[in-house]
Amino acid sequence: MSTPYADIYAASLADPEAFWLKAAEAIDWIERPLRAFDPSKGVYGRWFPDGVLNACHNALDRHVEDGRGEQAALIYDSPVTGVKRTYTFAELTEQVSRFAAVLQDFGVQKGDRVIVYMPMVPEAIIGVYACARLGAIHSVVFGGFAAAELAKRIDDARPKLILTASCGIEPTRKVAYKPLLDQAIAMSAHAPDTVILLQRPELSAEMMRGRDHDWEALRDAANGRTSQCEPMAATDPLYILYTSGTTGTPKGVVRDTGGYLVALAWSMSGLYDVKPGEVFWCASDIGWVVGHSYIIYGPLIHGASIVLYEGKPIGTPDAGAFWRVISEHKAVALFTAPTAFRAIRKEDPKGEKLAGYDLSGFRTLFLAGERADPATIEWAEEKLGVPVIDHCWQTETGWAIVGNPVGIELLPVKHGSPTVPMPGYDLKILEDDGREAPAGKLGNIVLKLPLPPGCLPTLWNDEARFRKGYLEAFPGYYQTSDAGFVDEDGYVFFMARTDDIINVAGHRLSTGGMEEAIASHPDVAECAVVGVADAVKGQAPVGFVVLKAGVDRPADEVEREIVDVVRNRVGPVAAFKTALTVQRLPKTRSGKILRGTIQKIADGEDWTMPATIEDPTALDEIGEALKERRG
Ligand code: COA
Ligand code: AMP
Repeated sequence: MSTPYADIYAASLADPEAFWLKAAEAIDWIERPLRAFDPSKGVYGRWFPDGVLNACHNALDRHVEDGRGEQAALIYDSPVTGVKRTYTFAELTEQVSRFAAVLQDFGVQKGDRVIVYMPMVPEAIIGVYACARLGAIHSVVFGGFAAAELAKRIDDARPKLILTASCGIEPTRKVAYKPLLDQAIAMSAHAPDTVILLQRPELSAEMMRGRDHDWEALRDAANGRTSQCEPMAATDPLYILYTSGTTGTPKGVVRDTGGYLVALAWSMSGLYDVKPGEVFWCASDIGWVVGHSYIIYGPLIHGASIVLYEGKPIGTPDAGAFWRVISEHKAVALFTAPTAFRAIRKEDPKGEKLAGYDLSGFRTLFLAGERADPATIEWAEEKLGVPVIDHCWQTETGWAIVGNPVGIELLPVKHGSPTVPMPGYDLKILEDDGREAPAGKLGNIVLKLPLPPGCLPTLWNDEARFRKGYLEAFPGYYQTSDAGFVDEDGYVFFMARTDDIINVAGHRLSTGGMEEAIASHPDVAECAVVGVADAVKGQAPVGFVVLKAGVDRPADEVEREIVDVVRNRVGPVAAFKTALTVQRLPKTRSGKILRGTIQKIADGEDWTMPATIEDPTALDEIGEALKERRG
């Protein structure tokens, strides 16, 4: 049936080159691409092989040239410090241009990597854009990771320079970034020459003479200086963003420049239905892909304003924080993770905190990052009276795979489904043997190659891992590692990961990485971490641990140490609070740990005794350990 969405989607698959060349008109090119796609380049082809552009110019300078100089570009709202500040497009462009000149003084140039380890402050956005201006490849590392995780990223990216701040501010504590950074640099084999540090008044950091430089002093000394936007090939990397894989070694997702900007520009109108000049608020963190695409880049490229919110949905100061920000800054749309709404609902089930806020200009709530449970969606629909749009994507894709194309037409919402594939995504459900699954049948969610613009062309320094991890299981397709189905109306349902990734409060985490950390404890013989259902965070990690023979210390003492090991090695963001000692782990006769069955037992779901189990009593023991802990 012909509908606006169906026609656009069909056109994107029938003639991708024509579709994306048209979409590319939303971008300011230094050299306009004549071809949309070159199948002979890269692992599966490359988008806009002959285009030349600059991401910073597209987000900032061009809007000043087009008369938006006095429009708000960045609205910083920080309930944790009490600071609010708005930067116009003209101011932000000046700050970025000046800071890029500072980076040039330290020798930063096209192709160099710069790690950004910063909280949600305007300087982080300025630093990222300064990199984009010079063609340096930024890699933002989330503040909730431990030093060892940061060290892994330093070693893989080999940055010329690191941008950081003295601290991040969580509702109950200050997170001193500098000692973590110093530790990480000490652990890594590739120490950068230079660290530029923003001293925050809440907690100042010690500086290392020769290596560390004060951000504000450099910025002030560079007053009046400017820098030019470097012409970049559309296929040049804009950033590397590390994400969890099945092992403790993170994957460096590479994002190219041209395809990404084109896809983001399309999504701002086609998916999010936001107009230039409006305010779009994405309440994520710049350390995640959602933050890259819809805090840092997407809205500004589109000429819309962003809100940079340094706070939480609850506790800063209460469950009305989101309503305040929407009404105060006149946001037309909010994009957040379902977990944020579960937290608000738990604290304020009747939505009483909405009273007194004018949300009349608020049009749409977008949710992504984890499965949106129908109860949360219904609550948000009822309390806000606007469409609540679930959409689904991955760090790898950079923008939505599946969504409800509000800017084209609002399709009927089906709770539990993020709706339909976005243009360019030829999504299929394949059985394990590669045959296409019929409607309604659960299978592997895959995307036919080539992936649309915006999606990763490769992994940094590891093309082999890209091929092996994503392209080999189903030749001709990208494997999402999600299981799901498509119903008779073409609605896609994402049900679960097929690998060892879990999603805790919208944060993607590797159980394998946590197991590696636990295994480093001297008393641990073996362990298994599974994600157990959690009412607010969606999932919470629980570790089952077998201690080495002869360890005769009290189990709860060792369990506490194990919790600390994960916090210190992976970071607080893992939210690893429960380690349970057991005598043995349930395994198949070939030695594979039965994680799926453990998870079902922990979630209280029906489970069947696996035929291949080595020792059935091991499963009883898991159940008893959980029962005992839950009291
Ligand atoms: N820097 C340092 N530490 C951080 C951090 C950061 N940027 N972000 C989180 N942490 C810490 C928290 O302080 C917490 O530490 P604690 O164990 O000492 O309490 C720990 O990491 C776990 O954080 P989190 O899982 O986020 O739990 P929370 O209780 O602090 O907050 C929510 C719960 C639901 C309010 C919060 O998770 C949230 O807003 N989630 C939305 C996530 C999101 O936007 N995801 C992006 C995808 S769209
Ligand atoms: P990340 O790379 O952190 O964005 O995490 C990507 C993974 O999160 C996906 O592969 C899914 O497993 C899950 N995910 C993201 N959004 C959704 C959603 N809307 N519904 C279900 N799962 C989701």
